[in-house]
Amino acid sequence: MATPTDGISVDQPNDILNELKQFDDTKAGVKGLVDSGIEKIPAFFIQPQELLPKSSDIAPPTLQVPIIDLGAIHKDAGCYKQIVEELKQASDSWGFFQLVNHSVPKDLLDEVIQGVKEFHEGDKDVKEKLYSRDRVKKVRFASNLRLLSAANWRDTLTCVFDGSLDPSDIPPVCRDAIMKYREAILQVAETLYELLSAALGLPSDHLSGMNCAKTQLMVAHYYPPCPEPELTLGTSMHTDPSFVTFLLQDDLGGLQILHNGHWVNVAPIPGALVVNIGDLLQLVSNDKFKSIKHRVLASARGPRISVATFLNPSFDEKKLFGPIKELLSDTNPPLYKEFLVDDYIKAYISKGLTASALSPFKL
Ligand code: OGA
Ligand code: NI
Repeated sequence: MATPTDGISVDQPNDILNELKQFDDTKAGVKGLVDSGIEKIPAFFIQPQELLPKSSDIAPPTLQVPIIDLGAIHKDAGCYKQIVEELKQASDSWGFFQLVNHSVPKDLLDEVIQGVKEFHEGDKDVKEKLYSRDRVKKVRFASNLRLLSAANWRDTLTCVFDGSLDPSDIPPVCRDAIMKYREAILQVAETLYELLSAALGLPSDHLSGMNCAKTQLMVAHYYPPCPEPELTLGTSMHTDPSFVTFLLQDDLGGLQILHNGHWVNVAPIPGALVVNIGDLLQLVSNDKFKSIKHRVLASARGPRISVATFLNPSFDEKKLFGPIKELLSDTNPPLYKEFLVDDYIKAYISKGLTASALSPFKL
């Protein structure tokens, strides 16, 4: 039976662990702490020195992740080819890009951000009732999806669209926006999978044929303003356990990706969707595409809202996954063994947030 403290790791001194449990039991999240007027952050939010941002590690602001403009995708074959080429470059050398003119209306994106904000700032009882880390629940709210040894300055509403989610479980303040946004993302994903297939030199229906958008895990984050942002993080460094991730962020900024040893800020572009290659696509592409480490800084400014949608195969998919056979040759041998999605998910859950979930499958 899952308890509210599921996922709390025990490698903390007892007093800190008690404080962490007390915080979790409030079911009010980081927002609740901030509302109580704290001026110092509790000890369990303090990150180890080596994980905190250092100004010497930050790339110059002129360095930006590539922008992929889908506006001319249907214009002619030349434009299509050009987009495929840009996408190939971006997925290989950056693992991240910002998609513009993707056809999801800006009004809908704004509506999603606003709805998520209203949920997090809304009725405390609604949030308390949803507070859970029980993976059986398809709609749930918690501060930190897993409470590891140092917590992140963030609260999250999670919706798992796996075919069994009942839309009426989504809080009314953001229900319509989230349902419309999910549909819109699935449409963009269809186009993107077609382009990524072409970028891998495969027939355009190859990736969609692998059923890699069957489950959509949507995490709607709320990063409250932090009184001591230099001591903690909004989200610790990690790679995504997905095939592809779509991220909608508001205009505050704070997302950084690790590119050639330096942290690059992903500057907000109104109306854009940030897309990144997840671990599973890195694996099936046999490392042609890269799943890149990223993190979110804590900030005195806020709240910051973002919504990440992880596209994944069905968790009970019985087919084996591994490097796509058509990509392999004598000079490009498989780098990973074949595995079941379920084994991958188990490996992901048992590791800490910052470890790589790909290593158990490396050949
Ligand atoms: C995530 C993530 C980034 C953000 O949820 O995996 O990387 O900006 N989020 O919230
Ligand atoms: Ni991420």
